[in-house]
Amino acid sequence: MSKPRVLLLGAPGAGKGTQSSRISDEFGVDHITTGDALRANKGMDISELGFEFDTPGGFMDAGELVPDEVVNEIVVTALDNADGFVLDGYPRNIEQAEFLDERTDLDAVLRLAVSEEELVDRLTGRRVCPECGENYHVEFDQPEESGVCDECGAELTQREDDTEETVRERLRVFAENTEPVIDHYAGTEAYAEIDGEGTPDEVWEDVQAAIEQRA
Ligand code: AP5
Ligand code: MG
Ligand code: ZN
Repeated sequence: MSKPRVLLLGAPGAGKGTQSSRISDEFGVDHITTGDALRANKGMDISELGFEFDTPGGFMDAGELVPDEVVNEIVVTALDNADGFVLDGYPRNIEQAEFLDERTDLDAVLRLAVSEEELVDRLTGRRVCPECGENYHVEFDQPEESGVCDECGAELTQREDDTEETVRERLRVFAENTEPVIDHYAGTEAYAEIDGEGTPDEVWEDVQAAIEQRA
């Protein structure tokens, strides 16, 4: 069996990062995430493109989408080097979806469905490891020692875009730009909607089964 090519769709806080880590470990595929790649390059000078902000970080901290030119480039490089993958956080608008469709087939397109109030609680309580990228939650997914990463021992931090105000804007941008991407894939053979409101382990059971059925 060749390695699966998986796309995870879902709102900010739906659990894309949490489930992607498991998919990557279980199926031995690359985790391609534009959010993490952009966070690692927040200060990159993109002023020559002539947009509202001169760096990816300007868009991210406002909760807006980073321009397609910048994001598509990251994805092309990552796809070229991947033998199976889980894509997390891309595509986020129809233009990105069409760009992706021209470059690869997808075995599984999984939509993680979670209600808006739950999303706000998850994001404002999220803590992240700045060293290895692991996600935690102050209530729902606590590390063994408070404030310290289980995987690597680094001190956990809060993402700059996880304030309530920016979270609300990210959810608005999702509804406007990314809901149409879900419609774009719904009805294809690869597509499945997964209830994202159970515990991370419960969601994982459904995610794993859906990939195994399709790969
Ligand atoms: P990105 O980093 O992709 O953020 P996002 O889509 O807003 O999604 P999150 O990472 O916030 O949520 P997640 O679904 O990964 O949830 P997680 O697993 O962490 O993008 C950030 C920014 O970068 C964008 O705003 C944009 O500016 C830019 N960008 C990125 N990609 C782009 C693109 N393609 N085009 C343009 N711009 C782009 O879970 C959240 C929390 O909930 C955690 O604390 C976790 O522990 C907890 N949790 C997870 N699952 C459960 C569960 N089942 N039950 C209870 N708690 C749970
Ligand atoms: Mg994420
Ligand atoms: Zn860590």
